[in-house]
Amino acid sequence: MKAALTEKFLARFGRAPAVIARAPGRIEFIGNHTDYNGGTVLGASIDRGVWVAAAARGDGQWRFATEASAGLVEVSSAASPARHSGPGSWVNYPLGVLAAFPPFGLRLPGGFDCLVLSDLPSGAGLSSSAALELASALAFLALSGQDAPRASLVQLCRHAENNFVGVPCGILDQGVSGFGRRDHLVYIDCRGPSFATVPLPAAARFWVFNTHTKHALVDGLYAARHRECLAAAAQLGVAALAAVTPAALAAARASLPPVEFRRAQHVVDEIARVEATVAALRAGDLAAVGRLLTASHRSSQHQFENSTPELDFLVDQLVAAPHVHGARLTGGGFGGAVMALTTPDFGAAQAAGVAAAYAANFGRPPEVLPAQTGDGAALQ
Ligand code: GLA
Repeated sequence: MKAALTEKFLARFGRAPAVIARAPGRIEFIGNHTDYNGGTVLGASIDRGVWVAAAARGDGQWRFATEASAGLVEVSSAASPARHSGPGSWVNYPLGVLAAFPPFGLRLPGGFDCLVLSDLPSGAGLSSSAALELASALAFLALSGQDAPRASLVQLCRHAENNFVGVPCGILDQGVSGFGRRDHLVYIDCRGPSFATVPLPAAARFWVFNTHTKHALVDGLYAARHRECLAAAAQLGVAALAAVTPAALAAARASLPPVEFRRAQHVVDEIARVEATVAALRAGDLAAVGRLLTASHRSSQHQFENSTPELDFLVDQLVAAPHVHGARLTGGGFGGAVMALTTPDFGAAQAAGVAAAYAANFGRPPEVLPAQTGDGAALQ
């Protein structure tokens, strides 16, 4: 990938890149909508990601290119960056990162050319946006001779997504891409936030089934869930739902409207499931981990209502199949992808069987991606 990127950069800009950075996509392992509620979450950085190559130019222009399209998006480094819409709107991720440099005490780089390459499908629920943010941030820092602690880099990228791109996400995607480690899961306590890794038993395998469906109102629905959770916390008299135990929530049931109670129950139970998953991983009990994953999905389906018939169908098929420990929607929901945790005996033939059943029901097959864990964002 690095050689291909260097070659493509040369062809586009007539010189070699000075810096290359790569950041991985992520699987949300368990901890659904817990991050912005101050809870804990487990994610896996995977072996696919986004690559950014860059080299300085003397005229103060920032020029962004991607392999996916022939044109360039050109922005003056002297003006304050403005959001783009339409086909060039992908630059909002690197541009949002740049806009976050000054508030994070970093100097803006001078002019540069940059080229983005990816082997991570976008819109698959694998967080290509966070990967693009992290890879861009590392490349722009190196280009301007600066460095930043990893935790603040991750916060800077989330800031870009919240404030420039305009998505009110938590720290999960950027945290996992930034702190990922091969053969490990990233454990985030979102209150700090603080980041740690948990070893993944060697027999664990991941499969991702991307439905290519996306609710038309996905951004609005994510924001609505965010609001419902904050409203439930306010009514319970806490700053964040993570401060509520399952027992305290049960006792307060009558004081909450039914919808807010269900949202809160998902979050509170999900945090308990994250902790139980860490214990089961440490005990090497993948069957127990799988049961927790599937319980997480059922809670999404019935309590948080961020699943869809397509995602439910895949989970039902997967949990009925041999060699599958458990399955759940991964990421924000309302479409996107399902991840399954399997034994090594679950192979392409079994995955194809699930895909065929899905196609018979919904008219088109899901994209099937066997995924492995991989290392977090780094200069190459
Ligand atoms: C999206 C967001 C994350 C997190 C998940 C749901 O992936 O970007 O911050 O909230 O949804 O757990």
